[in-house]
Amino acid sequence: MKIFKTALLASVAAFASVGAAQAQGQLNLLCSVQVEWCQAIATNFQKDTGITVNMTQKGSGESFAQLRAEKDNPKADVWFGGTGDPHLAAAEEGLSDTYKSALNDQLQPWALRQYDASKGRSIGVYSGAVGFGFNTELLKKKNLEAPKCWADIIKPAYKGEIQVANPNSSGTAYVIIATLVQLMGEQQAFDYMKKLHPNISAYARSGTGPIKAVARGETAVSMSFVHDAVTESNAGFPVSYSTPCEGTGFEIGSMSIIKGTRNVANARKFYDWALGPEAQKLGYTRGGQLQMPSNKATPLPPGAPDLTKMKLVEYDFVKYGQAAERRRLLAKWDAEIGSLPR
Ligand code: F6P
Repeated sequence: MKIFKTALLASVAAFASVGAAQAQGQLNLLCSVQVEWCQAIATNFQKDTGITVNMTQKGSGESFAQLRAEKDNPKADVWFGGTGDPHLAAAEEGLSDTYKSALNDQLQPWALRQYDASKGRSIGVYSGAVGFGFNTELLKKKNLEAPKCWADIIKPAYKGEIQVANPNSSGTAYVIIATLVQLMGEQQAFDYMKKLHPNISAYARSGTGPIKAVARGETAVSMSFVHDAVTESNAGFPVSYSTPCEGTGFEIGSMSIIKGTRNVANARKFYDWALGPEAQKLGYTRGGQLQMPSNKATPLPPGAPDLTKMKLVEYDFVKYGQAAERRRLLAKWDAEIGSLPR
């Protein structure tokens, strides 16, 4: 977990805005995208509105756990980003509140699917697909093929060469499990994950941990959102990606206002701001992130994976976003996969 006070306080020139910021009150932002993007939205929202932002960055599963723990005395006002499934579980458990933004009309249909599925308690801010990230130099050195299909990565040749996150803390890893269950059927998906287990060198805490390990040359292959592979390749690392030939799953990265927030007016201001194209551009321009943005007027970042060209599963967001289904699949993963010896 990382906690940040936005950097405006750093310069002398900022003293004037400090006065303005105090007058406008504050916003406690729980943020589940990569930290560069979280910092960019915190700084720019503060600059645009004079509202002081206290930002905490945590993975999707960890954020959901925090919101549950703080149910009676919420510390966060808005939860920005992270995979859609835990946002739906939060909506179902009454942890988030309804809000209809005037900007809903400008959003892609998939962003509004999240709104409908959550009964108005959550909205889509971006989308991204699951796939394989790999270090092209390391694969060559180890004489390994780049994986193209789910069937490839369970081959013994990849023993100890793959990383994925732990689904309890990471929304990415939960989307991967839900994808496999929808593609193969539940029993076959768990049998598949058992076969995959010897090839996994580590179950990381955060969804982007594995692709960062690929970039650093610590592991050859990761199971990741493929936009995160492009971020690493744009940063100069020998990283590429593929999406599984059998079909793959995707996320509706989401945003929710927390129920019981004391800063509801500022939470709504942030929510509207974050759905606008200017704020959404920051994901790429300041954060280096390459998800598909939800506002139709926000351009697709150059080099971003285009989901409309991929073979995608009919992801059942309502079913896999149900709190009980999520809990059941996580408990099963802990019992049958996470606890296997290594
Ligand atoms: O910020 C990158 C990202 O891949 C998002 O697209 C996604 O919603 C988030 O990370 C998930 O993070 P985690 O798996 O750690 O919950």
